[in-house]
Amino acid sequence: MTALLVFESMYGSTAAIAEAVAAGLADLSIPVTVCEVGIAGLPSLQSPPHLLVVGAPTHQRGLSTPRSRESARADVIATVSPTDGVREWLEQLSGRVSGQATAVFDTALAGRLAGSAAHTIGKRLTRAGAELVMPPESFTVTGRSSGLLPDELEHARSWGRSLALFAAAAAPSSTRTR
Ligand SMILES: Cc1cc2nc3c(=O)[nH]c(=O)nc-3n(C[C@H](O)[C@H](O)[C@H](O)COP(=O)(O)O)c2cc1C
Repeated sequence: MTALLVFESMYGSTAAIAEAVAAGLADLSIPVTVCEVGIAGLPSLQSPPHLLVVGAPTHQRGLSTPRSRESARADVIATVSPTDGVREWLEQLSGRVSGQATAVFDTALAGRLAGSAAHTIGKRLTRAGAELVMPPESFTVTGRSSGLLPDELEHARSWGRSLALFAAAAAPSSTRTR
């Protein structure tokens, strides 16, 4: 069983969550490749990952846009994701994710009005034929560029471990020991 984790991040919080989720998958011996979205390329058609995990920061209650990324870039010298985001990456996926086991996460501010990039990613992936092995998950930041709430890295690692268990249960038996 293998996993590919693709993330977008402006200020680094989603990148840190991505690494913690990967550590949780690795805790249960799942080899995982972590890629920033701009350099990820598309999943291989010949040997797709058994589990595809996609994460992004919540902007304007959903996925970032060129304009919201431009706004984020004005805050800092350099953002983690320098070019396109998950929105553009998903647009290229058509035909590649039919039946693909996936999981999605975001970072967002606390509160009901925050919105969720993960829900948008989940909807787009399922519309393209992918299957979500767990509900979308959100990890909370303390402000636009001020980092994660305490304990969110442990929350992410623990979610990664749960993901490993759900994905293994959903995988065909021939892939479980790979
Ligand atoms: C332009 C912009 C719009 C944002 N809109 C929202 C929003 O609607 N809801 C929310 O919870 N957080 C919003 N945020 C805060 C982001 O969620 C936060 O910057 C992100 O989680 C940090 O992750 P990163 O460090 O990986 O970029 C916004 C941030 C920016 C820059």
